[in-house]
Amino acid sequence: MNRLLLFGVFFIAASCSTIPNHSNVKEQYFLTEVKPVLQQNCLRCHNGTMPSPALNLTSKDDAFKRNSRGQNYILPGRPDQSLLVTAVQRSGAHLKLMPRTDISLTDDQIGMLREWIEDGAFWPTDKNGILKPQSNPENP
Ligand code: HEC
Repeated sequence: MNRLLLFGVFFIAASCSTIPNHSNVKEQYFLTEVKPVLQQNCLRCHNGTMPSPALNLTSKDDAFKRNSRGQNYILPGRPDQSLLVTAVQRSGAHLKLMPRTDISLTDDQIGMLREWIEDGAFWPTDKNGILKPQSNPENP
């Protein structure tokens, strides 16, 4: 079953007092799945301190830019054309393997990012969509 759909079902079940609309489910998915993984694994470097157009994951506006060769970091609906995914996928054609640390994302985390982009890459534009570096419990 599609992970996002499964998540949506759990979310609805967990909050039976109100039936959330579709964008609520997407926002929850971003906040509980996407944001922590990016904050713990990517924001240490991709926090706006590298000169543009290097990937900057601090906000939607910054993250939805293109690199110097005009390739998208995040192309909604197209994980295979999104550098955010292809760069971290060890098996991908991309030569730059990310993150450049001694740890890499798990297959689950990469699958989660793929599904998020496939489903439109919802990223809130209010303060919930502001990302900051966060310590990683698996790599303190
Ligand atoms: C230790 C620092 C560091 C961490 C952590 C890190 N990156 Fe990077 N990343 C870099 C640097 C430096 C570059 C610049 C490389 C370039 O553009 O030539 C880069 C480039 C990239 C690019 C652009 C590749 C391209 O071809 O333009 C993507 C996409 C990327 N990183 C994704 C990620 C993601 C996703 C994470 C977290 C899972 C991450 N990075 C974690 C340092 C880091």
